[in-house]
Amino acid sequence: MTVRGAKNLVPKAMVAALLGDSPSVLRNVPEIKDVAVVTSLLKIHGVTVTKDEATGDLTMDPSGTKTATSNEIDTHAGDSRIPILFCGPLLHSLGEALIPNLGGCKIGDRPIDFHLDVLRHFGAVIDKAGPLGTSIRAPHGLTGAKISLPYPSVGATEQVLLTAVRAKGTTEVENAAIEPEILDLISLLQKMGAIITVGRDRVIRIIGVDRLNGYNHKALPDRNESASWASAALVTNGDIYVEGAAQRDLTAFLHTYRQIGGEFEVTDGGIRFFHPGGELKPLILETDVHPGFMTDWQQPLVVALTQASGVSIIHETVYENRFGFTNALVEMGAKVQLHSECLGAIPCRFGQRNFQHSAVITGPTPLVGADIDIPDLRGGFSHLIAALAAEGTSRVTGIELINRGYEKFMDKLTDLGARVEMNEIA
Ligand code: EPZ
Repeated sequence: MTVRGAKNLVPKAMVAALLGDSPSVLRNVPEIKDVAVVTSLLKIHGVTVTKDEATGDLTMDPSGTKTATSNEIDTHAGDSRIPILFCGPLLHSLGEALIPNLGGCKIGDRPIDFHLDVLRHFGAVIDKAGPLGTSIRAPHGLTGAKISLPYPSVGATEQVLLTAVRAKGTTEVENAAIEPEILDLISLLQKMGAIITVGRDRVIRIIGVDRLNGYNHKALPDRNESASWASAALVTNGDIYVEGAAQRDLTAFLHTYRQIGGEFEVTDGGIRFFHPGGELKPLILETDVHPGFMTDWQQPLVVALTQASGVSIIHETVYENRFGFTNALVEMGAKVQLHSECLGAIPCRFGQRNFQHSAVITGPTPLVGADIDIPDLRGGFSHLIAALAAEGTSRVTGIELINRGYEKFMDKLTDLGARVEMNEIA
C-alpha cells in the first residue's frame, strides 16, 4: 500500500499558504478529512483552493483573503484542532482572527493555553467571543519575542513559526518541538523566503520579514500511518510493503519493532514490515517527544504487545488519557492493567494526578470479536487491527473518525485481504 503526505504536516502547510503574496502548490496531499476541513476553512477566508484531479496537488491563492464570520468558521471547523493555527497568518493579513472552540481526538484535556500565551508574546489581544469561540486582534501589529514553551508542544511551536515569520524583528523559542513534521514546515517556510535557524537544544530563531512568496512543496510521508500498518502486520502475522514510508523519520519506531520481534526491509521507495514467525517479545517503553518513541505509535503497538509472550510496560508521557482504548481490547480478551503511577523514568507531568497513563500488558492472549465504538483516530485504528486478529466477527461503529488521518483505509484493508464490510446504520 502507499502512504502519502503526513496528516500532521499537510493541514499546517495549507495554513502557511495564507502567509504568501502569491499562490502556493502542495504536493503529495492525502484524501483525508482534515484536508477537507482546512480546504473549506481556507475557502471561507477568501483563499481560492484548486485541486488537480489527476495528481491531487492543491494550489492555494491567498490574494482574496478576507474575514469569515464566527458562524461560518464554527460550521466548517468540524472537530479539527487546526483552526487555532490560522491566528498568526490572519493577524498578519487582516489584523484579526476568530477561532472556534476546538475539537480533536479525546486523548486528554488538550488545552490551548500555550497557543494563547505565544500569541500574547507577539502582542496579540485575546477576548472571548461568545459561545462560538475566541476573538484575537493585533491592534499594533505583531512583534518578535523571546518565548520559552512549558513543554515541547508541536502545535505551540507551529504557532510560533507561523506567527514569527512575518512579525517585526527576531523571535527565539526555547523548548521547541523538533518533530519531522515541524522541520518540514520550516523547509516550506524557508522556500517562501522566511529566515529560520534550528539551533542546539530545541532553540529555534526566526527573523521576521515583510513579505513571503508562495511555495511549491512535496509533503513528507506520513510516518504515523506507516507505523500503524507496521503494527497491523505484526498483529495479523502479516507482511505489508508500505510504499512511501521513510526510514529517516521512523528510527525510534524501527528500533522498537525489531526489539519485539518484528522485521523490516528498507528500500529506496518504502519499507516492508513483516512478522518473521516465532514469538513476539515483551518490552518496556516510554512515549516521548521526538526523537523519542512517538505517542501516536503507541496505540497500534499495544495491540501487537497483547500477542507478545510476557509482560510489557508502557509509560505514556505526552497525553494523560491515551489508554482509554484498551477497555475494548480487554473486552476482546487482552490482559491490560492501567495505573496512575509513572512506570518509567522520563519526567512526566501526569504522575500522582489520577491519570491512568501507564499500562501493563500480559500476553499472549487470544482475541475474540466484539462490538466496539471507536474513541479516537489511533485508538480506532488499533481496534480495527485487533478485530482482524480476533476469532469471529467484530462490529465497529464510529469508523468515520479514522478518515481524519488514514487515506482510503477501507480500500487498503480490502487490498490486504481483510474481510471487511461497510454497513450504513439507520
Ligand atoms: C500534534 O498534536 C498532533 N496533531 C498529534 O497527533 C500528536 O500526537 C501530537 O502533536 C504530539 O506529537 C496534529 O499535528 C494535528 P502537542 P498537538 O501540542 O500539536 C499539551 C494523532 O493521532 N498542551 O504537542 O495538539 C497537550 O495537552 C494526533 O495524529 C497543553 O497543555 O500536540 C499534550 O499533553 C493526536 N497546552 C502536550 O502538550 C497547549 O496549549 C503535547 O501536545 C498545547 C498542548
